[in-house]
Amino acid sequence: MVSLGRARAVGLVGLEGTIVDVEAQVAPGLPSFRIVGLPDASLGEARERVRAALQSTGVQLPDRRITVNLSPASVPKSGAGFDLSIAVAVVATGSMPGRDSARRTVHIAELGLDGRLHPVRGVLPMVARAVRAGHPRVVVSGGNAAEAALVPGAEVVAADHLAEVLASYGLTFEPTGEPPASEPPAVVEEGVDPPDLRDVVGQPEARFALEVAAAGGHHVVMIGPPGAGKTMLACRLPSILPDLSDEDAVAVTSIHSIAGTFTPTHGLIRRPPFEAPHHTASPVAIIGGGSGVPRPGAVSRAHGGTLFLDEAPEFPPSVLQTLRQPLESGQVVLHRAHAAARYPARFQLVMAANPCPCGAGVRCECPAGTRRRYLARLSGPLLDRVDIRMEVRRVTRAMALLGSGGETSAEVAARVAAARLRQETRFAPMPWSLNSAAPGRWLREGLSAGVRRELEKLVHAGVLTMRGLDRVLRLSWTLADLAGEDRPDLPHVGMAYTLRTGGSDATAV
Ligand SMILES: Nc1ncnc2c1ncn2[C@@H]1O[C@H](COP(=O)(O)OP(=O)(O)OP(=O)(O)O)[C@@H](O)[C@H]1O
Ligand SMILES: [Mg+2]
Ligand SMILES: [Zn+2]
Repeated sequence: MVSLGRARAVGLVGLEGTIVDVEAQVAPGLPSFRIVGLPDASLGEARERVRAALQSTGVQLPDRRITVNLSPASVPKSGAGFDLSIAVAVVATGSMPGRDSARRTVHIAELGLDGRLHPVRGVLPMVARAVRAGHPRVVVSGGNAAEAALVPGAEVVAADHLAEVLASYGLTFEPTGEPPASEPPAVVEEGVDPPDLRDVVGQPEARFALEVAAAGGHHVVMIGPPGAGKTMLACRLPSILPDLSDEDAVAVTSIHSIAGTFTPTHGLIRRPPFEAPHHTASPVAIIGGGSGVPRPGAVSRAHGGTLFLDEAPEFPPSVLQTLRQPLESGQVVLHRAHAAARYPARFQLVMAANPCPCGAGVRCECPAGTRRRYLARLSGPLLDRVDIRMEVRRVTRAMALLGSGGETSAEVAARVAAARLRQETRFAPMPWSLNSAAPGRWLREGLSAGVRRELEKLVHAGVLTMRGLDRVLRLSWTLADLAGEDRPDLPHVGMAYTLRTGGSDATAV
């Protein structure tokens, strides 16, 4: 006689979840326990964990042939999150009062050898998928309950031990061995104030450039000697960006859920993230990847926010090259043997660089060629996408000690929000929403005849290339938006030209 047990789980590839049907079958034959359906190495381990967890819970495995099938087979399955569904399906092959309920329920948890449920990564996108697929009842570990509950419409059942889950299906077991010690309460981080622009003394040009960058979503490169405040300024960019939209908040939080870099008790991530990978970080850490389910890298954790490359010329050229794809398409595709995982990666790029590898600042005596070559490491596809070049000069020591900070981030953020609203309204019918993403043709067509004539002169005179022209125009539109004007005028264009070149030779970087 063959008996079947069923439960549901969710497989995740990138941010995309698939409902996985877990079916356990007990058939006559030599005692064995197999899992099929494209299992990778971690599913092999799942077998051992599930077997041990069932034993610790007091479940007697039938002395027959047990086969567990995860379908659809075409979906790559990885990670420990299938453990619980496999255990429930196996138990459901016997007489279990809550069989039908178990079959309709999505189970997402790793099992410990002692039968305890452990949290897994990516619960938010998994539960979201389950709810969308019409399976709102989900069982998760206590450690994942707060995260699962962030999904509207989810009916979250939290449990700490397999025995509890089975009890909810009408089966009573006495776990053997030590009663599980309760998990230590999660450490709640103290709310640290995010860095604020009011701390920055002086630097009016740099502050303004940062405001323009925030308003139009423009990428920035900052060049200046050590201690000039480049890092300080970059860290404050998120503080003047608007909150994430609801849709972006879900995507950003899902990415950080898979990356294991968010605190669910704080709710969805609503503020633009800030990621600053070190130049020694591995390509996988920056772009994403790794064995099994590819993890999102810094470029995806920065989605909706800022990717800051401090000392950008020190990054390996290969890593800088890999940034092309996300800069062009707003996502990364990580290829794996059986599938490609996609993660969103639409970020605002901020690069900082010393003018020279010696780092001596004003005392630098390196030949001009050395300095040029150093910054030329950033050349090509990356700098092509950078609209703003900021020269950051050191404030004097006396000023840093005695001077008072400027406007607060909140004051600047209000102007940024207004400029973004103008763009949203203007671009409502278009597939883009920021000046930095507007195509060249659009930027040129909306100009007044007078401005167009002046720009044509500059291009004819060789002062501006066509590519340079488009960049100046993107910034001009943002300056007009900040000023509350309907279209850029000549002064905006002049100021844009200065922002684009950092007030220095346009061809230097
Ligand atoms: N405009 C400023 N207002 C207040 N403090 C400043 C300012 N500029 C620099 N500082 C102080 O100097 C410190 C160094 O600045 P920061 O690390 O941002 O410089 P940097 O340009 O990134 O230098 P490096 O090239 O060495 O990375 C800051 O932590 C800050 O305390
Ligand atoms: Mg720095
Ligand atoms: Zn030097």
